[in-house]
Amino acid sequence: MFTSFLLLPLLVVSSLAQQDYTQYVDVFFGTGNGGNMFPGVVGAPFAPVKLGPDANIDNVKSGFDPSSPISGFSLMHETGTGGAPKYGTVSQLPVLGNVDDPLASLSLTRAKPDNASLGYYQTSLSNGIVVELAASEHAGFFKYTFPPNKGQAGVVVDVSHFLTSKLPNNLGQSYSRGSMQTYPDGHYTGSGTYHGGWNLAPDWTVYFCGRFRSNSTSKAYIDGTFASGPVKVGAVFQFDGTSVASRVGFSFISTEKACTFLDEEITATTTLQNLVDISKAKWNVEVFSKVRTTEKNTTLLGQLYTSLYGMHILPSNRTGDNPNTKWKATDPYYDDFYTLWDLYRCTTPLLQILQPNMYEELIRSVIGVFQTEGYMPDGRSSNFNGRSQGGSSADNILADAYIKGVRGKIDWNAGYAAMVKDAEVAPPPNNDPQGKDSSTKEGRGALPDWINLGYITTKFTRSASRAIEYAGNDFALYQVASGMGKTKDADRYLARSRNWRNHWSPNTTSLGTQGFIVPRRRNGSLATNQNATSCGGCYWGDDYYEAKPWEYSVNAHHDLATLIKYDGSDNAFSTRLNTLLDPKNKLADMGNEPSFGSPYLYNFINQQSLSVKNSRQIAKTQYSPGPAGLPGNSDAGAMQSWLLWNMIGLYPLTGQTTFLIHSPWFSDLTIDLGNGKNLHVTSTGGSDTAIYVQSLKVNGKAWNKNWVSWNDVFASGGTMEFVLGPEMKNWDTGDLPPSPASNGDQTGINFTTWWLWRSGLFWLRNRRSDLENIKNDDEANRMAQSKDDIANARAEIAKSDDGDEKKSPIVTSDDRSEISRETDEVVDVKK
Ligand SMILES: *[C@@H]1O[C@H](CO)[C@@H](O)[C@H](O)[C@H]1NC(C)=O
Ligand SMILES: *[C@@H]1O[C@H](CO)[C@@H](O)[C@H](O)[C@H]1NC(C)=O
Ligand SMILES: *[C@@H]1O[C@H](CO)[C@@H](O)[C@H](O)[C@H]1NC(C)=O
Ligand SMILES: *[C@@H]1O[C@H](CO)[C@@H](O)[C@H](O)[C@H]1NC(C)=O
Ligand SMILES: *[C@@H]1O[C@H](CO)[C@@H](O)[C@H](O)[C@H]1NC(C)=O
Ligand SMILES: *[C@@H]1O[C@H](CO)[C@@H](O)[C@H](O)[C@H]1NC(C)=O
Ligand SMILES: *[C@@H]1O[C@H](CO)[C@@H](O)[C@H](O)[C@H]1NC(C)=O
Ligand SMILES: *[C@@H]1O[C@H](CO)[C@@H](O)[C@H](O)[C@H]1NC(C)=O
Repeated sequence: MFTSFLLLPLLVVSSLAQQDYTQYVDVFFGTGNGGNMFPGVVGAPFAPVKLGPDANIDNVKSGFDPSSPISGFSLMHETGTGGAPKYGTVSQLPVLGNVDDPLASLSLTRAKPDNASLGYYQTSLSNGIVVELAASEHAGFFKYTFPPNKGQAGVVVDVSHFLTSKLPNNLGQSYSRGSMQTYPDGHYTGSGTYHGGWNLAPDWTVYFCGRFRSNSTSKAYIDGTFASGPVKVGAVFQFDGTSVASRVGFSFISTEKACTFLDEEITATTTLQNLVDISKAKWNVEVFSKVRTTEKNTTLLGQLYTSLYGMHILPSNRTGDNPNTKWKATDPYYDDFYTLWDLYRCTTPLLQILQPNMYEELIRSVIGVFQTEGYMPDGRSSNFNGRSQGGSSADNILADAYIKGVRGKIDWNAGYAAMVKDAEVAPPPNNDPQGKDSSTKEGRGALPDWINLGYITTKFTRSASRAIEYAGNDFALYQVASGMGKTKDADRYLARSRNWRNHWSPNTTSLGTQGFIVPRRRNGSLATNQNATSCGGCYWGDDYYEAKPWEYSVNAHHDLATLIKYDGSDNAFSTRLNTLLDPKNKLADMGNEPSFGSPYLYNFINQQSLSVKNSRQIAKTQYSPGPAGLPGNSDAGAMQSWLLWNMIGLYPLTGQTTFLIHSPWFSDLTIDLGNGKNLHVTSTGGSDTAIYVQSLKVNGKAWNKNWVSWNDVFASGGTMEFVLGPEMKNWDTGDLPPSPASNGDQTGINFTTWWLWRSGLFWLRNRRSDLENIKNDDEANRMAQSKDDIANARAEIAKSDDGDEKKSPIVTSDDRSEISRETDEVVDVKK
């Protein structure tokens, strides 16, 4: 998809003939209000080089802060991330006059706000220097215009430059060492080695190669006085005249590779304007032209194309630049996942549709990381896995691809092996100070409880939220296992995918709703003191990660019929969602991923107009054009992809073929699915207030289900024709969306019986793990006293078990045999 730069004139010409969608893109969108978007130059979708300014203050995630002085313009950035800064490496800073010490962390202020458009960035510094930037995939172009008669033009290269942060817990980056060489012809090469960042990476080395257009005299500096660590290195280049252009490439493999990237992509005669034109052409051809609408409102077009831009910046396509010698150079390789936990809900399902080639490469890449390093990534940057916030999200992405028929060059046996590793082998500890209980590097740290107990006790951090995520991950394994005909595995993982239910406390109430996910204490009992409106610190060391019990309680999207059953009626479920989504209650945080799907869940009770009402309200009140337009960290474009799905009128249930239907923004939208296939979504009667579906045709046929499947509209393309109006109408009278883990006829379940069963089972499992840990006679004696309790429990369970699987189908035959086996074992040990 990345056309060779030599062929580009053709690409530019052919794209100029088309519409220029880049005019609608606001690169400053989401840079403020905690959105943390990177506004600098990204010369092509997923390009490794992201060239922009770096603020000289601490903890600026993407490097951009409009009001701080600038410490340099660097080639490497993330975008839209929270956590802690990463990169800000391979930089230059223009200077005037003599510089005594280029390694003294110089910085310059702006004369006015930066000016940028897709592919182009301009900063006017208050000393009169104007910096203009453009880029290809692996190299950046710097054009400096110096004011006349204000001192000699110079450029500082400080190898120790990076985005700083004083955050605790090893989250900040540091400079380990560097080297640099200048050559008589004025070019320079070298490498810097850095440490840390949000993913807790060990030392990583980046190599660079820079060339100037003008003749320079250079002076290298070594700062031997740097007290606490290896020596800083850098150089000052000085020039005659007022105009200097430079171009710099980087590589994770070698300086030669950095020079090769540079010379292949930006030649001695390439101009800044050439690069800008090429960037625009690439973005138009590869991204924007795939989504076309007849809409004329430029505010809405701006939101559409700016959102598409924001979700095509990360991950970075580092194919050919993986320094791991076990990696085959020709295999596709992607880095900078920030993180798959953020991306699996909305972004990757949209990438599948818009970028099928890239999507296949991405899947091969994460499987390749498993093959060469042991686990698929969740977060990853500087070629190092880290960190896992919830479960092993790559499993969800692989399942989504598998069930939607993605095959190509993917080795699905290896893919399934990677998933099984996630599901069965807990990763070794990585001693993350923020989550000391288990590895946060990759995989599923809390597997020991999940496998042995079927729930996660507070022995593990983030226990309740991880349980919900693990259930979804296991459902992903079920999907792939059943597709591959591995029926035994499929049964195992389907059963495990239901274990989110083991955290369900039917008695916990909050704001009039009864029944919530709760943590399970170390002894296995359900926490009774939970405040469902609060997640405490909501972070690494807490019971819930970044979302409240209210939010996680509706997150088992593969088993929603069970949740509705727990609620007892459609109305109770509807009330639960109303309370969750009512802005007054401040419960659903749409600036974070766990609530992405919640406004659409009314579809599961055929109250689709409420999904439309709530999701549209969120889209229109929490998102807006401009720097402050995102409700939270973009999270590598996750927020933008949520908004795009809202515009399209569908919501993907990752890991299932189901797309929930809501209501499209535009009267005519066409998505190019490749190979001549399109999804064409039209609507009549729509307006700002007429947003409700009155009727729908799918592929020309009247449609009364509030969902479509992959095969309906994506596999071979399709049409969806909406009639919209101002009234909420009960048009969705057809089959409910599938709830694939809630199979079996659930009517007639006696939930009291079921609860006795489940509690008995948990209780026994805990006694058993206590027994395994008995260290002395005292403990054994105390344990013996519970013999009677055990006998009682067994009797209780026996009493409540009528032996009729049909009556209590949620209690599986496996559960039944486990109960009798464990009871026997426990009683045996005590004899
Ligand atoms: C931004 O830069 C472009 C290209 O140099 C220029 O045409 C435009 O006038 C500038 N806009 C502002 C607001 O400075
Ligand atoms: C750079 O210096 C060389 C040798 O002095 C000269 O031939 C060349 O024209 C100069 N180039 C520029 C751009 O000034
Ligand atoms: C364009 O859409 C925006 C957002 O819905 C709206 O506020 C604005 O009034 C529309 N502009 C025109 C000219 O209709
Ligand atoms: C990723 O990069 C490689 C090497 O530059 C290129 O061959 C491939 O086409 C790129 N992938 C996409 C989807 O552009
Ligand atoms: C729910 O509350 C009832 C009445 O207080 C109690 O008997 C039952 O054991 C509780 N159930 C659970 C699962 O805590
Ligand atoms: C488990 O621990 C909690 C508090 O730590 C206690 O209230 C409860 O009674 C214990 N339950 C059992 C079954 O031991
Ligand atoms: C529950 O948490 C919320 C939010 O932190 C707080 O406002 C409320 O007072 C808490 N309720 C109780 C009963 O502690
Ligand atoms: C459910 O089972 C319990 C005992 O296990 C019994 O007391 C109750 O009456 C049953 N409820 C119904 C509706 O059958």
